[in-house]
Amino acid sequence: MPHALITGANRGIGLEHVRQLLGRDWTITAAVRNPDAATELKALDPGDGRLRIEAYDATDLGAPTALKAKVEGPIDILFANAGIMGPKVQEYGSAASEGFLDTLRTNTLAPLALVEAFADQVAQSQLKVVALQSSRMGSIADNDSGGRYAYRASKAALNAVGKSLSVDLEDAGVIVLILHPGWVRTDMGGPNGNLTVNECVEGQLDLIARANPAMNGRFFHVSGEDLPW
Ligand SMILES: NC(=O)c1ccc[n+]([C@@H]2O[C@H](COP(=O)([O-])OP(=O)(O)OC[C@H]3O[C@@H](n4cnc5c(N)ncnc54)[C@H](OP(=O)(O)O)[C@@H]3O)[C@@H](O)[C@H]2O)c1
Repeated sequence: MPHALITGANRGIGLEHVRQLLGRDWTITAAVRNPDAATELKALDPGDGRLRIEAYDATDLGAPTALKAKVEGPIDILFANAGIMGPKVQEYGSAASEGFLDTLRTNTLAPLALVEAFADQVAQSQLKVVALQSSRMGSIADNDSGGRYAYRASKAALNAVGKSLSVDLEDAGVIVLILHPGWVRTDMGGPNGNLTVNECVEGQLDLIARANPAMNGRFFHVSGEDLPW
């Protein structure tokens, strides 16, 4: 039975990944900041042991190692999905802040620490996919509106991390996909997004199902198109 480990699995895009993968008979490790409060996630539990909910705080660089002690066996999809928009104010003039550093910790360092902890288990699986939930806002080429310094920089840096991982893990057969989910109607995306979580996750899972070595280290829109760095 295939196994996915997904961070930020209690709401938004992560929660929908859990819902759809459970529906496809996957086993899921759902890594969430506060398991006790994860009511929507718990409501998805089919009660047959396929949903395992574990504590994980992306701001704690030791969290992946602690999590690894609880997660056995191959991991077909390691999905670093948890992320934050960052400080309320991150426009020019007030962009250099401690909140900028916090954003890098959650959006950039945490996914790297997660992959460093679990890449061996991904390499033992059938699918061997590392998925990094990035954003088009991390594209430097696509930035024609400025602002959002912390968020943009954290996702641009995540893209750089993903590219290096794709090179360093190539010999292990791991395929690193750097993903833009589209503009999705979640707490982060707000009510005006183009996609429902359902549409977004169907698209992302289609893309992941097609993963092959030629896709390693590329930056994909949910539509399957390559995005410019
Ligand atoms: N929605 C969009 O349009 C869009 C577009 C581009 C990229 N993305 C990316 O997609 C990913 C998911 O976004 P979303 O729209 O689903 O956002 P969301 O609804 O705000 O959900 C964010 C998820 O990340 C988790 N998270 C945040 N900080 C965490 C931490 N320190 N430790 C553990 N979990 C943490 C949250 O958990 P808590 O409930 O504990 O806070 C929540 O589960 C993010 O990486 C985001 O940057 C989204």
